[in-house]
Amino acid sequence: MTRVLVTGGAGYIGSHVVKALGEAGYQVVTYDNLSTGHQWAVLYGDLVVGDLADKKRLREVFAQYRPKAVMHFAAHIVVPESVKNPLKYYRNNTVNAVNLLEACVEFGVENFIFSSTAAVYGEPEQIPITEAAPLEPINPYGQSKVLVEKILSDCSKAYPFRYVALRYFNVAGADGKIRIGQVSPKPTHLITRAVKTALGQIDRLEIYGTDYPTPDGTCIRDYIHVDDLAHAHILALEHLLSSGESRIFNCGYGHGYSVREVVEKTKEVTGIDFPVVEAPRREGDPPALVADSTRIQRELNWQPKDDDLGYIIKTAWEWEKRVMRERVRRKT
Ligand code: UFG
Repeated sequence: MTRVLVTGGAGYIGSHVVKALGEAGYQVVTYDNLSTGHQWAVLYGDLVVGDLADKKRLREVFAQYRPKAVMHFAAHIVVPESVKNPLKYYRNNTVNAVNLLEACVEFGVENFIFSSTAAVYGEPEQIPITEAAPLEPINPYGQSKVLVEKILSDCSKAYPFRYVALRYFNVAGADGKIRIGQVSPKPTHLITRAVKTALGQIDRLEIYGTDYPTPDGTCIRDYIHVDDLAHAHILALEHLLSSGESRIFNCGYGHGYSVREVVEKTKEVTGIDFPVVEAPRREGDPPALVADSTRIQRELNWQPKDDDLGYIIKTAWEWEKRVMRERVRRKT
């Protein structure tokens, strides 16, 4: 059986990929320091609690499990924080990725899948965005990921090593069976904030900027369901395991929704007319980010199953209600 090491497998996206790997019959080992991840989120395989900065522990895990492939999710992801504290991002997202790559090369792991982001494109001139668009990140978060992409490219030329970098657009929603989902003490993402406002956990939802050059003046994003994204990882893994060459793929549906459209859909799905106010722009938000996902559809035959904003919001809503119920239960 093929064994896959997943860093950050206890986090939001990582845990959905661990689930998909387990369901597809892979043996999984999660390596996670549980700084933002959760033990309960790891539905398959072993969980090793460890940090990527701890090279000794990392080597022990490679020696013990001898993975055939590595999937690397563990990273910091908060854009404004990266602007305030760039070294934290370069240390964790870039330097720690080098630690992981050193272990891969030492233990002969030739297959690597990397969580990249649409933030590598900065403020793209053309929408939809193809993988050939220039890499011009506008914040240290995006830059920390660009650097890893470049390191991966160099490694693929120097060692017996191939990789797939997946550039995620706006990942949202939760497991269809509502077993796992996003848990964040201070959520910043639109859909999470919208369903929390519907639940009354946030007083009112702010729309950041209504004067963008878009049809309704609010920003447009390409929201992709986390399970469809997880499946893209399985296809990327199969590609590498069948000796496919190193590739970079956008992961999005190829169409976007404005903030106002997401807000209206959330009201419809939840049946709650929650308070919404217009607020100033948030710094660093590009007006529109929409993927051209032709390449992954063509080359990996990725066929999204959950390309439905209503379904994405519904799973996020059901998950948020579950989190709230369990919090109440723990208190009583
Ligand atoms: N927004 C609001 N109100 C909120 C929250 C968000 O109006 O309460 C708006 C934002 O201003 C933005 C849109 O909703 O226009 C989406 O914002 P998110 O925070 O949900 O997502 P981002 O597009 O900012 O960021 C996401 C990922 C980043 C990644 C980026 C690039 O979180 O990691 O996409 O695709 F870098």
